Order: sequence, then structure tokens, then C-alpha cells
Amino acid sequence: MNETRPRAGVTALGAYAPSKVVTNFDLEKIMDTSDEWITTRTGIKRRHVAADEEFTSDLAFRAVENLVARHGDDALTGVDMVIVATNTPDALFPATAALVQEKFRLRAGAFDLLAACPGWLYAVGIGKSLVESGQCKRVLAIGAEALTKIVDWNDRATAVLFGDGGGAAIVEAVPEPYGVKGVVLGADGAGADHLHKRSVGACLPSGARLSDSLYMNGREVYKFAVRVMNTATLEAVEKAGLTVDDISLFVPHQANLRIIEAARERLSLPKERVVVTVDEYGNNSTASIPLALANALDAGRIAVGDNLLLVSFGAGLTWASAVLTWGPA
Ligand code: UT7
Repeated sequence: MNETRPRAGVTALGAYAPSKVVTNFDLEKIMDTSDEWITTRTGIKRRHVAADEEFTSDLAFRAVENLVARHGDDALTGVDMVIVATNTPDALFPATAALVQEKFRLRAGAFDLLAACPGWLYAVGIGKSLVESGQCKRVLAIGAEALTKIVDWNDRATAVLFGDGGGAAIVEAVPEPYGVKGVVLGADGAGADHLHKRSVGACLPSGARLSDSLYMNGREVYKFAVRVMNTATLEAVEKAGLTVDDISLFVPHQANLRIIEAARERLSLPKERVVVTVDEYGNNSTASIPLALANALDAGRIAVGDNLLLVSFGAGLTWASAVLTWGPA
């Protein structure tokens, strides 16, 4: 960290999940699957699904509105950069972040960030750099996802996994000892074929189809996830100058309860120090960690000074992790 400037931290949070809920039992009626299979393989019981006319920008707006509802009318004052991490932007361009800038009348730059599920953690990491370098004062880092609009509802192997939602955070300077520490941002494009959605309009490599659905090689992503959740968490803790014993709460990407459990066991953390929301929301990608954080806050599971260990993984393949010392808000 630059010693002449304060460290950046997260001082406000907001989250949103669409009101429409689809249970495993609902899915049993439309595809060859069962509540038993989905529950034992993934831990998912329900997922929240955006309405037909509800898109990623709407989910981002709602998450920001929730942030304002929690933190007051001044919560957005002075925001000078908006980052929307998403795999499902309203359009290839303009950036969904520009729609957020306009909606809330911010005097801010705006760009979208595509790093798959770790996108929100990437946005927080980049927001931290912008603040600590002096480039920005307050960064609005959003993760929002309308994934159920791009899954193939005829592919039971992926359709049951995903949900929609949004999360938003303010990243700005905080006093010691608070803030975002030990940020790890990683990628390994050798795994690019394991999880993708290739169609982006006419600018395609020759031979690619103009429209396709999300594809995932679940087993390969699973193996990668278990490995990287372990290495990336340990790296973040070490970079932050802490040990696993200093971690109050583990807030992992909510993709699969078995992956979360494997990571928890390798870190030797008791179950009560892990946030699990995958049962309620399924995997909503970039929204998963801010939504899980908001849930933990609402449940009174986060206190000022707590060290939160965040980690995510996804298409790319990519990963990200960080320690967030909560406060001072
Ligand atoms: O944000 C990052 C995104 N991705 C992930 O985190 C995904 C990581 N991977 C996973 O979570 C798991 O690999 C899955 C949950 C996707 C799949 O679990 P699995 O234990 O690896 O199952 P599998 O793919 O090996 O499939 C086992 C069986 C297959 O049947 P056969 O070939 O053994 O007869 C599948 O056809 O389960 C079948 N199957 C289903 N059965 C009922 C696959 N999907 C379903 C389903 N309902 N929805």
C-alpha cells in the first residue's frame, strides 16, 4: 500500500434479489430432474428469477436503491466511478454502468467489467486501486446478473444451478485497521473451454454460432474450484499479513455447497464461520458475494473489526480473493 494514502475499504452495501422464486419442485415439473438430485449435488433449494422485462441494469438499480435505503440519501454523494461487473450486460455496449450513472445522476466515469463470477471482487480490487492511487474518491462497485435469461432451459445440467440478483458496494478510504487487504486477482485461460457463452453478435470467430446458451463442463469447473478456493484464500490471508485464525467469517462464492464445504474443511473453519446462501439464491455469479455479505450483515453476523475472507472463481477460468476488515461504518 502507498504509505502516504489511506487504505480503501467497503463502507456501504446494498443487495437485491427478484421476487419471483423458482423451487426445485417447480423445476421437477418442467425437466427431468429432482429436488433430491439438486439438493444433494449442489445444496440449492430455490433461486430468484428476474421478470421477463427485468434486465441486469434493473437488478443493478435495485441493489443501489437498497444501498441508499440502508445508508441514507447521501450514500452516493461524491461517487466518481461506477463499475458494473456482469456476464449478462443489457448490451455489448453501452456499458450497463453508464445506465447506472445516468439513473442516479452521478458525476462519474462508468465501465463494465467481465471477469465471470469473481467480477465483483475484481471490481472491489480495482476500486481499491483507484482510491488508493488518488484517481477516485468513491467507487460504486456493482455485481448484477440476469443469468436465467441465458441458460438453456433444456439442459438440466446447468439450468438448475443459476439465479439472478444484484449487489452494490461503496469503496472509499477508511482509517486503520479497516479496509480491503491482500487482494488476489487470477486467471488461467487454458480452461476457457470449460465454461462459456460465445455469441456476442456478429463479431464472432468464423464458425461460431450466432446464438448459443451457456455451456459448462461441470466436473472440470468443480475440480478447478476446489483447488483454487484453497490456494487463493491462503494467498489472500498471507498477503494481508494474517493467519486463518484471524478470520471471523468466510464468505465464498455461492455456486455449490459441496465446493464451499471442501474449502471450509481445508481451511479448518467451523461451520458457524461460513456464510451459505446458495440454498436460497442458487449461483448468481457476480452478485453472489455482495448478496451473501448483505445477508450476513442483516443476520448480525458481522461486527466492526471482523476480518472477512472473500473468494470466488468462474469462467476464464478466473479467481479472486481478499480479506475485508469490516468498518468503520
Ligand atoms: O460459478 C462457477 C460455475 N460453476 C460451478 O461452480 C460448477 C461446478 N460443478 C458442479 O457444481 C458440479 O459438477 C455439478 C453440480 C454441475 C454437477 O454435479 P456432479 O456431481 O459433477 O454431476 P455430473 O455432472 O457428474 O452428473 C452426474 C449425473 C449424470 O448422469 P449419469 O451420466 O451419471 O447417468 C448427469 O446426467 O447426474 C445427471 N444430472 C442430473 N440429474 C438430475 C446432471 N444434471 C442433473 C439434474 N438432475 N439437474
